[in-house]
Amino acid sequence: MNNEKLIITDMGGDTEHKGSNDSILCLGIESSCDETSAAIVDDNKNILAHIIYSQIPEHQQYGGVVPELAARAHILAIDEVIKLTLERAGKTIDDIDVVAATAGPGLIGGVLVGWMTATGISNATHKPLIAVNHLEGHALVPRLKATSASDSATSIDVEFPYLLMLASGGHCQILLVRGVGKYELIGQTLDDSAGEAFDKIAKMLGLGYPGGPIVDKRAQMGDKKRFHFPRPLCDKTGCDFSFSGIKTAARMLLDKTDKSRIDEQFINDFCASFQAAVVDCITNRLQNALHDERVKKTNPKTLVVAGGVAKNSAIRNAMEKLAADFNMQFAAPPMNLCTDNGAMIAWAGIENYKAGKTVKEPIAPRPRWPLTEL
Ligand code: KG4
Ligand code: ZN
Repeated sequence: MNNEKLIITDMGGDTEHKGSNDSILCLGIESSCDETSAAIVDDNKNILAHIIYSQIPEHQQYGGVVPELAARAHILAIDEVIKLTLERAGKTIDDIDVVAATAGPGLIGGVLVGWMTATGISNATHKPLIAVNHLEGHALVPRLKATSASDSATSIDVEFPYLLMLASGGHCQILLVRGVGKYELIGQTLDDSAGEAFDKIAKMLGLGYPGGPIVDKRAQMGDKKRFHFPRPLCDKTGCDFSFSGIKTAARMLLDKTDKSRIDEQFINDFCASFQAAVVDCITNRLQNALHDERVKKTNPKTLVVAGGVAKNSAIRNAMEKLAADFNMQFAAPPMNLCTDNGAMIAWAGIENYKAGKTVKEPIAPRPRWPLTEL
């Protein structure tokens, strides 16, 4: 196969740590969307190596991920990504104790590539195999590494139970995380995910894909008071989200605006105003969640954000403030562990391995796999 076009990013690792002899080493593989990634993580929270091959340039011209192209790109990349990860960690496959891979939810063609690769490695080496739920990867990665919004230099320990805002391209949920495999759904979106809303706004404005990082950057240069977007459900009780109304309002505003008025400042203000609406919705829904009887009874000490949208600094800052209002600590993964990556899968592999959740017989990957069905 032709690997010449692979653009691979070495995410680095905790280089001073090469895994002590008594630590558990997990090789984690992620391939559920448009990133082929592998990492080696130990149970002392060290990332020995972490490689990500991003397919973004391949999908950019289509304005979103094309599943068939993604699956083929994963096939082309995966062997090289795993080989490089082992090399960077200074390890061979014999040194690995546990093999973990995403077994869903996600684009099934891509999930199959990573899952079958992990199954093959496990069968050939007789190492234990862990089927990681991709969402659990996002949900548990703050326990590998996390910081607050205002101080990214100091690391925070995230203990169970915690209240989690999980916001990615495919999901938007508030969850009470009681332990490995123990999730209670407190609220979720009734239509689009937060990431999807960012992506669609960017597409409307012709800003490219993925939209979240671009809208975030534009918003930082804009006036959030210039346009008013709705805050769906915010006058209602409950913890569910709805973002499609914001998207429709944005579409209508653009349609009635004279094209000659859409200059750089208009776009920046538009992004800032849209982002402010999303931040208000997230804050309002989390406020209700923090008053929810189930949450109050469980008394989580930490408010956590995870998933690709957790990269958004306005959301991080608003959640940090909310946590302070409720006397809680706030935690978010470092920026490079928010979007899809192999380290979160390796870490979820370690946590599941310790909980005794190894794969005992062949399983089929699942395109849909809610966290409440672990
Ligand atoms: O978790 P993730 O990498 O993939 C899924 O599991 O879906 O999340 C990707 C999503 C995309 O919708 C992307 O636009 C969004 O995360 N995203 C952001 C930011 N960076 C990535 N959204 C808002 N602000 C950001 N800075
Ligand atoms: Zn994800």
